[in-house]
Amino acid sequence: MFETAAATDRPDYSLLTQQVSSILTGETALMTNAAQFSALVYHSLSDLNWAGFYLCTPAAKAGGEFSHDLLLGPFQGKVACVRIPFGRGVCGTTASQRSTILVPDVHAFPGHIACDSASNSEIVIPLIKDGKLYGVFDIDSPKLNRFTAEDQQGLEAMVAAFMQATNFSQISGA
Ligand code: SME
Repeated sequence: MFETAAATDRPDYSLLTQQVSSILTGETALMTNAAQFSALVYHSLSDLNWAGFYLCTPAAKAGGEFSHDLLLGPFQGKVACVRIPFGRGVCGTTASQRSTILVPDVHAFPGHIACDSASNSEIVIPLIKDGKLYGVFDIDSPKLNRFTAEDQQGLEAMVAAFMQATNFSQISGA
């Protein structure tokens, strides 16, 4: 069985990225790979209270600016908000702008959606493959300023390995 190293605030991201590829080898199923990926991240980085996916789904309100919402996917942590429209909160803003958002203090982010009142900082990375956006990967910490530019770079590399290993044909990308 695969053993994750102890959680740390300075993880070896190149090793973690290799571990993503090796853990997901031979399996392309979205929910399976997303569940494994959230567990690996949650147990490899210290001071996290949530790590998980929001995946694109057709918008509940048709005719708006965006044709998709984000729907809760596999995660580790407490029960969370189920559906987030594009453009709302850190996750929806990441989806609409299609680039990572690093939030040192969530209380200073206009429109931040507080699923868990313990969260103080957050990083959200978009899931993009072949030009299509399939959702976001969201990580929350109870610590202010938890995530650095180095974390962003490392986590983006891990997400890229996850994207490469995973088949997204069962959901409609935006
Ligand atoms: N804080 C996020 C909502 C998702 S939870 O943190 C799990 C946001 O503002 O989009």
